[in-house]
Amino acid sequence: MERILIIRKIFNEAIALIDEAGLSYWHNEADAPLGLSEMGTRLAEAEAIICLLTDRVDAQVMDAAPHLKIIANVAVGYDNIDVAAATERGIIVTNTPSVLTECTADLTFALLLATARRIVEADAYMRAGKFEGWELFQPHLGVDVFGKTLGIVGLGRIGAAVARRALLGFNMSILYTGQNPKPDAGRELEARFVGLANLLRHSDFVSIHAPLTAQTRHLLTLNEFRLMKPSAILINTARGPIIKEADLVQALEQDLIAGAGLDVYEEEPEAHPGLAALPNVVMVPHIGSATTETRRRMALMAAENVAAVLGGGRPLNPVNFTSRNP
Ligand code: DGY
Repeated sequence: MERILIIRKIFNEAIALIDEAGLSYWHNEADAPLGLSEMGTRLAEAEAIICLLTDRVDAQVMDAAPHLKIIANVAVGYDNIDVAAATERGIIVTNTPSVLTECTADLTFALLLATARRIVEADAYMRAGKFEGWELFQPHLGVDVFGKTLGIVGLGRIGAAVARRALLGFNMSILYTGQNPKPDAGRELEARFVGLANLLRHSDFVSIHAPLTAQTRHLLTLNEFRLMKPSAILINTARGPIIKEADLVQALEQDLIAGAGLDVYEEEPEAHPGLAALPNVVMVPHIGSATTETRRRMALMAAENVAAVLGGGRPLNPVNFTSRNP
């Protein structure tokens, strides 16, 4: 009987950690997504699941796993897990905060700069052999980033890391919004708390760093895009469904905003077909945390959480039962 079900392929270092803890496991090294029926008896016996953000862990999966003590997500976001159902059943859910903060903030800034300076379009132009020499009115005139206003939706760890880059590297003014003001972070980052509408009205760049919840799903629709500056650029490295993607396409087509840099999509792995047709959109395939070092740290953190709980201890990064044992 294997105590841990590792639903997708993970780094060897995480497997080594589980081995060292003397815990038995089954590892889906084939890395093909598994459904409930394929997990079968393994699920029925599992005390722990290590899963990715693409694995839906809902009440049905939990009911097929009566011995489950912990679901360890290899991601900071955990909207793929029904946390309320887990809590009801006394199952701990953990995530991987902090280890991917700087990496995701880097990617956010890469998208912001790439969109503002039209890097992807210019690269394609160069490769096509179209460059005929420097001109004052070159075809890829972009917009300045230095000294502009950045609006951050969600000043959590990643939002703050983006704000730090913006302040220290680019002398930007920072606005932020969220459920509550964060006076300490706000002071350190010289960031001003405002309502969403004000943030959208006054920002040159808007970057999303909120978790996906019932409150943030479709937070940005055509109504919100109408509030933004026509010169504004929207960046999303958080979760796709925070933006109503069809409305974003419409807003870009109608020049309500100037561009978008996207790492995440409403119906991953699909992206709205209208996006690819727009030259002022830079799209990457959910690679915010995609460096080898970061992904390895995420896998290790998930394994550490499992080892702690199956060893009878407290999880390192619980998202439920944060103040008491289940
Ligand atoms: C996360 O951890 O939630 C990220 O989206 C992974 O890239």
